[in-house]
Amino acid sequence: MKKITIRDIQKLKGSESPFATVTAYDFVSAQNADAVDFPLLLVGDSAAMVVYGMENTIPISMDELLFLVRAVCRGTKKALVVADMPFMSYQASVEDAIRNAGRFIKEGGAGAIKLEGGVPYTSQIRAIIDAGIPVMGHVGLLPQSYNLSSGYRIQGKSILEAEKIIEDAEAVQESGAFAVVLEGIPGDLAERITNLLDIPTIGIGAGPFCDGQIQVYHDILGLYGDFSPKHAKRYGNFGVEIQHKLAEYKNEVEEKTFPTKEHFINSNIHLEKTH
Ligand code: KIV
Repeated sequence: MKKITIRDIQKLKGSESPFATVTAYDFVSAQNADAVDFPLLLVGDSAAMVVYGMENTIPISMDELLFLVRAVCRGTKKALVVADMPFMSYQASVEDAIRNAGRFIKEGGAGAIKLEGGVPYTSQIRAIIDAGIPVMGHVGLLPQSYNLSSGYRIQGKSILEAEKIIEDAEAVQESGAFAVVLEGIPGDLAERITNLLDIPTIGIGAGPFCDGQIQVYHDILGLYGDFSPKHAKRYGNFGVEIQHKLAEYKNEVEEKTFPTKEHFINSNIHLEKTH
């Protein structure tokens, strides 16, 4: 089976039908997503919240993400696996950026990395690409800047903010990124950026006019408690479904209706009374 490459993703720019992508965090979610033929799977730092139960994406470490990247790569035959650079794995220096991006490729098996930020991180993006690693950008709402922006707020509602996000997106493209995530910005701004850039834009909370969309696996499947961000649509309520099924199993054990004879064997050997 042919693996999707960054060239394949770049060819999706401007397609009449937008493409969908999703996050994945383990072997099973990767297998499920790959079976549906998503071209790209992101091992997002959103794992901090939906896998590790952290309050936001800031505390997750390289190692905590690296384990998940390995599992996702094992479960993926076709899609391009993109690993998300966690907070402080690239911000402090170009050297950190190259070394940590390299770990995701060499030790994790990912095909590309993603990092948050535009103009301030062009040196990091260029250096990672110079090391032979494809980079996906991420501009607009930057969850790793949670403290600076006082929470998760839609970005680009004023002219000044909108111009800054356009500059960031252009800088990401000029630095060589193969695609860019537009998160939490007005739909008309995302449309403008999509028309300006030659690389595919992938929106989340950025309206329908991007080249593609990305969503968090747990948000669209209803696996993350009652919380549902405004940008996500729930296509299922599998968290509740799982609880019902676990309760069914528990009741059957307590009522002695499981296990039954098809679930075990007897040896039929004669054991001495002393044993
Ligand atoms: O970490 C993540 O899941 C992301 C997506 C929201 C784009 O960065």
